[in-house]
Amino acid sequence: MLISGRGSNLQSILDAIGDGRLAADVVVVISNRADAQGLERARRAGIETLVMDHRGRAREEYDAALAEALHARRVDLVCLAGFMRVLSPAFVAAFPQRILNIHPSLLPSFPGVDAQGQAFRHGVQVTGATVHFVDESLDGGPIVRQEAVRVEPDDTAASLAARILEVEHRLYPAAIADVLGGGWRLEGRRFVR
Ligand code: GRF
Repeated sequence: MLISGRGSNLQSILDAIGDGRLAADVVVVISNRADAQGLERARRAGIETLVMDHRGRAREEYDAALAEALHARRVDLVCLAGFMRVLSPAFVAAFPQRILNIHPSLLPSFPGVDAQGQAFRHGVQVTGATVHFVDESLDGGPIVRQEAVRVEPDDTAASLAARILEVEHRLYPAAIADVLGGGWRLEGRRFVR
C-alpha cells in the first residue's frame, strides 16, 4: 500500500483482513513522508514499512525505485490510499490493471485535491466515494466500486467529508476483494463481473 498521511483507509483494510471480510495480506506500506500517521498503524500491525522520500528526486527515477521495491516483494496489487503523488506512465505500465486508488467523490466529478470541498462548494446534492484503477489520467481510470452519499442541508464541508470517509472505509476493502477475487474483465472502461 502507498500512503502519504493519516492512513485511515489502510486501517480499514487491515481491519477487514483481521475480521475475515478480506482475504489478503498487506505486504508492505510505503510512504513518501516519514511523518505519515499510517506508518505507525502499519508498524503496530507488524507490517513492513518503507519511507521513500520523493524530495529532490526526478519523478521517473522515484517511480522506478518505487516499482522496484514493489516488484521485489512480488505484490499482486498496489493500493493507493491518500498517496499524494501522481504516478508516471512507466509506473502505471509496470502494474497493468494492478493499481487501485480511492477517491472521495463520485468520479468523474471532482477529480484532484479536496474533492469533498469541491463537491460541497459546487452545491451538489449527492456525492460519494469511488475506487478505481489507476491509469495515466488524474483520477480517471476504470471504476471498480462507487457509493453515493447525500449532502444534507446542515452539512459543512467537514461533516460531509466525515460521512464520505465512513463509506470509503467499507468501499475499499470490498473493491479489493472484487479485484483479487478474479472473474472480472474490463469492457472498455466498464468493470464487469
Ligand atoms: C481519503 O479521503 C482518500 O479518499 C483520499 O485521501 C484520503 C486519505 O485518507 N485519496 P487516509 O490517509 O486513508 O485516512
